[in-house]
Amino acid sequence: MKVTVIGAGYVGLSTGLVLASLGNKVYFVDVDKEKLESLKEGKPPFYEPHVEDLLKRTLKEKRVIFTTDYSEAIPLSDVVFICVGTPLRVSGEADTRQVMSAVRDISKHLGGKTVSIVIKSTVPVGTAREVEKQINKDHYGNFIVLSNPEFLREGHAIEDTFKPDRIVIGANDKKAIEHLIKLYDPIIKQTFKRVISDRLDREIPVVVTTNESAELIKYAANAFLATKISFINEIANIAENVGADITDVAFGIGLDPRIGNLFLKAGLGWGGSCFPKDLKALHQMVGNSGYLPGLLKAVIKVNDEQRFRFLQKIVKVFGDGLRNKKIAVLGIAFKAGTDDLRNSPGVEIVKQLVSLGAKISIYDPLALENARKTLPESVGLCDSIEKAVEKTDAIIITTEAQEFKTMNLEKLGKLVREKIIFDGRNIISNPKGWDYWGVGR
Ligand code: UDX
Repeated sequence: MKVTVIGAGYVGLSTGLVLASLGNKVYFVDVDKEKLESLKEGKPPFYEPHVEDLLKRTLKEKRVIFTTDYSEAIPLSDVVFICVGTPLRVSGEADTRQVMSAVRDISKHLGGKTVSIVIKSTVPVGTAREVEKQINKDHYGNFIVLSNPEFLREGHAIEDTFKPDRIVIGANDKKAIEHLIKLYDPIIKQTFKRVISDRLDREIPVVVTTNESAELIKYAANAFLATKISFINEIANIAENVGADITDVAFGIGLDPRIGNLFLKAGLGWGGSCFPKDLKALHQMVGNSGYLPGLLKAVIKVNDEQRFRFLQKIVKVFGDGLRNKKIAVLGIAFKAGTDDLRNSPGVEIVKQLVSLGAKISIYDPLALENARKTLPESVGLCDSIEKAVEKTDAIIITTEAQEFKTMNLEKLGKLVREKIIFDGRNIISNPKGWDYWGVGR
């Protein structure tokens, strides 16, 4: 099939590259010329496993085209995916202006054949209807609007696109639903050629529902996962007060299949581009409808406070102040396996420590380049754990990077000035000889 993807970010690029590798022709439309130029040369705009490989391969096969021009893509396409950003407005609502602007541009180029317009961006409930109204107003052609939310995780984007837990399709047109299912057939049946990823030995469930339910499924999924994390962080804070160990508590409750052991890791709380934005947008959306979302409010509050509780712990240990204390921060991305710094607890902690007069050196396996653009000039960036910890008064761990889990504390102990570790992700199991501070243990 011929497919257009509007927006070449994490979701758009992963979706489009996987569809291209399944044999489709994919037109990527984006407003960012610089980004398109580097994509044409096979260079992805962010770190994500397999993206560069797939990009180079599909470019070579001439299956992907990058353009700013809708007229080059829409008239040729049967399916158009909208994958643009929906950032937060100051009011806390999701900003759908990029979606609506893409829709206006799409509608200008709709012709005689019926086109499926598939919304993948995370949008407030009711957006698909708005999109339908907008195009009907312009009245340029035949189209069906489908909602098809995306659940991929950064750091696993390609893997998750080839092997999603489910595919959710919201629409009220049987033919358009069948058409989209046909496009996804090699993924649903796991019959794709093994390009990068092993296949699953089962089919992927497809949930067919209304546009509104599909839109809400995405928000509800993120809200539930964020709730699990805030819950375990709250229990971690209780564990600290009563002398329990949260790692054992989480293991003990996670064995109950009704609870499950995933997303029960206590630490600095959730960050990234999705949870913070989507939780706030859902909270605002529900509030606007006249219902007071007490649980969501508490989930956000626990998370907002979690990183500051950790910071307070650090401040308390250095009773005589942090001025001129040299501190190594290991991990600056919002989680391991990505170079994304959006809503990163590590960034916030570093900024606070700098304002308290501490001297910071940082190491992150992937995010140093982005760190330079975000952090104050005074923060030192190091290309190894060893360089970062040299002559420091404390080490702070903010992500679960494999390198941090396996670092040799005995060796590092000889490089530091003081043997103090603040472990924001509870990844150190044997801190013998170190003054150790975790979360909830
Ligand atoms: C998330 C959702 O998982 C994905 O389905 C959705 O499409 C986008 O948002 P992502 O933002 O890539 O994906 O990160 P994820 O791996 O889910 O982690 C989210 C945050 O929660 C991270 O900050 C992570 O460190 C934190 N986390 C996760 C915990 O603190 N504890 C856990 O047990 C799990």
